[in-house]
Amino acid sequence: MKLRFALLGACALALTLAAALYAAGPEITVYKLSTCTCCMQWVEHLKKNGFQVTVKEVPSVDEYKRQFGVPKDLESCHTAVVDGYAIEGHVPASEILRVLKERPRAKGLAVPGMPLGSPGMEASQKDVRDAYDVVLFTADGKNYVYRHYAGN
Ligand code: CU
Ligand code: CU
Repeated sequence: MKLRFALLGACALALTLAAALYAAGPEITVYKLSTCTCCMQWVEHLKKNGFQVTVKEVPSVDEYKRQFGVPKDLESCHTAVVDGYAIEGHVPASEILRVLKERPRAKGLAVPGMPLGSPGMEASQKDVRDAYDVVLFTADGKNYVYRHYAGN
């Protein structure tokens, strides 16, 4: 009996530690249309990577794209903001974490359009991946390739 209680205690401690680690992830707010399902799959991807996500369902995402300075040619479905950076579209969590670590002088990151195989866009054809760029964009209108993902 004693051993059993000890094990239960250890499990409870492990759960508490996991919850604490989870809660330590970056806070991100996502603006999306209620009808967008790939947006929710991207949100799941963020949660799996430890982000604390607040989802705001809005009648139009355009005003948020303008508010956070997302260039027209980089637009995608959803718009998010994390620690002052705009995150447009299906940007992988790894690049968001990199931006938060490196803190480049930029407005934000974007994955323009909705490339197949990007996080949240893998649903229909699991083995099909488009090539795409994660673009770093600045307040003065410059775009840089922050990371390139190869297609197949
Ligand atoms: Cu999408
Ligand atoms: Cu979306």
